[in-house]
Amino acid sequence: MRPEPNFPVRPDEFVGRRQHIEAFREALQQGLTAGRTSSFAILGDWGIGKSSLLLKFAAVCAEPAFAFLPILFSASTDVHDYMRLAESLLDKFGDALLAMPNLEARLRAELRNWRLKQLNLGAVGLERHSRRLFLSSGSSLLRHKLKEAWDHFFRPAQLNGAIFFLDDLQNIGISKSDLALTIRDQFQFFGIEGMNYSVCFSAKPDYFAETKALAEPAVRFYTKVYLEPFTFEETIEYTRSVFGTSPDPSAIIATWLHEKTLGHPYFLAFVCKRLSTLEGQIHSQKLEAIWPAIFDQLGREKFRSDIAQLSAKELGLAHQFASFSESDIPAHHLTGKIHREHRARLVEKGVLIRTGRGRYKLYHPLFREFLRQTQ
Ligand SMILES: Nc1ncnc2c1ncn2[C@@H]1O[C@H](COP(=O)(O)OP(=O)(O)O)[C@@H](O)[C@H]1O
Ligand SMILES: [Mg+2]
Repeated sequence: MRPEPNFPVRPDEFVGRRQHIEAFREALQQGLTAGRTSSFAILGDWGIGKSSLLLKFAAVCAEPAFAFLPILFSASTDVHDYMRLAESLLDKFGDALLAMPNLEARLRAELRNWRLKQLNLGAVGLERHSRRLFLSSGSSLLRHKLKEAWDHFFRPAQLNGAIFFLDDLQNIGISKSDLALTIRDQFQFFGIEGMNYSVCFSAKPDYFAETKALAEPAVRFYTKVYLEPFTFEETIEYTRSVFGTSPDPSAIIATWLHEKTLGHPYFLAFVCKRLSTLEGQIHSQKLEAIWPAIFDQLGREKFRSDIAQLSAKELGLAHQFASFSESDIPAHHLTGKIHREHRARLVEKGVLIRTGRGRYKLYHPLFREFLRQTQ
């Protein structure tokens, strides 16, 4: 494999996460029997492998044994209402159906027609509606169109269902609790009506934080997958897939890599990409000698852009956090109104991550090291 830290990994080069994939396969299997499939939420910090897992799941559900149609959608910040989201999803849905190989010409023509047919709902003036109605009209559009599609296209196309994969749901400018609940209502309805449509979305780990008290059902509806860094075994597997196994240099390299990156997939990919451009065999003695150059490059390509988005005050705080001897930040440095506000913004920007109740740390020790060196 050629490591590419800035792109999700290709499904056929995907490493590890066996339990999650197994659980997903089981859900698909149950979905085939029951006619409805659980929806999933993949939650995790920046660079931990959410998009990669989402793409892997999409590839799995399309396997002939399952024959689900995956619809991939990258959530962007310019979606501010559910109608817009519904339209975008329908668009992608139509694309995905039309892209199916071996689709009969007649069916293909009907599909094109189905796409063009406008629903009056779409033309309703939006300002005059309350937010609730507004949400429900996006729902009606999806409900109507997806029912039509289910009745006309799914059996002839030999599909058992469809799964909408929504990457980075937190980007959508709709209140998180509203959105999680609206999507849940929508897809629960499909399940009840015998249409095998489900959702799998990825988001930051705090996605449900504001929803919990408000709307339990929205939280319970999703099977949640919390992504952690790679285990040492997964780091070994990753190293093997990059450097090969004969001769096997990977045990020593993997140990070194795991020490440096703590199994964080992005950093692993970054360092491995750099190592794999070196000429000839990598000798373990050489690793430490190469490290400063790699760390430098990390600073230029990643850490500098992390700090570029911080205000002077936030940056000062980050430096202060980096100076503590423990990686966990002492709680009394995070209390007080001002601190709480900055803390929230540092979390929002992915610089700080929550490790437990009232407990935080900088998102990676290598970033902490960078801050210390640039004090
Ligand atoms: N399971 C995996 N196998 C191989 N590489 C992975 C895996 N998960 C993540 N990576 C690597 O880590 C990088 C970051 O992963 P990505 O899926 O983009 O994270 P996220 O979407 O959580 O920010 C990817 O570019 C890829 O190189
Ligand atoms: Mg991603």
